[in-house]
Amino acid sequence: MAQKTRLVKMIVYGCQMNFAEAERMEGQLREIGFESTEDAERADLILIHTCCVRETAEDKAYGKIGEIKRLKREKPSLLFGVTGCMAQKESDALIRRAPHIDFVLGTGRIGELSRVVEELFAEREGNNARHVVDVAENRSLPEDGTPARQGTVSAWVPIMYGCDNFCTYCIVPYVRGRERSRLPEDILREIEDAAAKGFKEITLLGQNVNSYGKDHKLADFAELLQMADKVDGIERVRFMTSHPKDLSPRLIAAVRDGQHICEHFHLPVQHGSDLILKAMNRNYTTERYKALVRSIRENVPGASLTTDLIVGFPGETDEDFDSLLDFLREIRYDAAYTFLYSPRSGTPAAKLDGQVPDEVKHERLERLMALQNQISLEQNQKLDGTVQEVLIEGPSRTDETIWTGRTRTGKIVLWPHQKGEGVGELAQIKITQPQTWVLKGERERAEG
Ligand code: SAH
Ligand code: SF4
Ligand code: F3S
Repeated sequence: MAQKTRLVKMIVYGCQMNFAEAERMEGQLREIGFESTEDAERADLILIHTCCVRETAEDKAYGKIGEIKRLKREKPSLLFGVTGCMAQKESDALIRRAPHIDFVLGTGRIGELSRVVEELFAEREGNNARHVVDVAENRSLPEDGTPARQGTVSAWVPIMYGCDNFCTYCIVPYVRGRERSRLPEDILREIEDAAAKGFKEITLLGQNVNSYGKDHKLADFAELLQMADKVDGIERVRFMTSHPKDLSPRLIAAVRDGQHICEHFHLPVQHGSDLILKAMNRNYTTERYKALVRSIRENVPGASLTTDLIVGFPGETDEDFDSLLDFLREIRYDAAYTFLYSPRSGTPAAKLDGQVPDEVKHERLERLMALQNQISLEQNQKLDGTVQEVLIEGPSRTDETIWTGRTRTGKIVLWPHQKGEGVGELAQIKITQPQTWVLKGERERAEG
């Protein structure tokens, strides 16, 4: 008798790494006959793939976990799993807090997903429900399989897992384990496969892509970029995240000389005060960082530069904060992701004296964002009247007639769609209305 197709609803939080991993989890589930649904009410399996980098990320996941209680009550056959970084961190505490969770799989156990799901479904039929919690460390690489990619134009390609940096505020090294690089041939095969399926852009992902290959020494990151650059059909190669302490001249040269490697550096500085950088264990000074930025700008003119910033790190004084504002005025980032420091238990910074009161953090964040927004706008205004090569992603979310895509530098462009324009094509768009977050433009008329 043919079995009815089972449906999975995936809910994903966190960084690109998590989204890339969720595609792999979905790929595994498809192999055992699942299809995806957006509708949680219809799902036979609900998975929440979690993040714990800040408390707000955990609050969101707990909120969702709470909502699913009702669905479980209405449909007891529903299987509900929590995976990812918060699963790793909380382990069986999650089930104690929310007993309607059936299973918890940590970051090193993603490869076990289909086995656990099959086992629990089988037992369910025998009315023998139990909880599974597995957060054992995985020193090898997660299983790969074929990812169920969500995009049509852009594909995520994880190149390494884990982080060895132990920035004092950050929980990632504790929940993701030590750095492990995938083999160059596996990465290359995956990129070729994405190209064969019609993807035009790939983003190489890792917590610190610059330390790619330090373990197996088969290729370093600059070499990997050059390999990716040569794959037929791939128009754009992106990467994130680069840790400033490991950004090499060879990497800058690879971006300069590459044909498809995009001129965008996401180079999180975190702070603009040397005292705070030291307390964060970032292993660079503002001077060294500025020298890197000079080298990028000399070698790759027109490159965009984006960053992550944390306000309210323990001990941050008004002077430290002013240094951060001055630093932004000097560097002039194209965009910055700004975060309120969130103490994570188990990290060294959470135990430091001088935790900054919430009101002060919020007030500083607002000033920081106001300054950066002004700078982002001014940076974008420099592109007014220029023609940009845009990789077409399709209709924008709010208006079918307005299409969206990105420049090589990663900026979002919006323009009125014209007949014949297709998703995945490159278009020449003239920028007519640069704004803080997007560039508005129009199709450049073809010459001749
Ligand atoms: N590996 C990447 C970033 C991973 S986490 C890197 O080093 O750049 C993404 C961002 O979250 C970090 O860059 C940092 O700005 C922020 N972040 C990490 N831990 C945080 C914490 N405890 N509170 C607030 N922001 C944090
Ligand atoms: Fe966290 Fe630092 Fe590793 Fe980035 S480099 S994941 S901020 S410990
Ligand atoms: Fe969050 Fe884990 Fe990424 S903690 S930021 S999902 S590595």
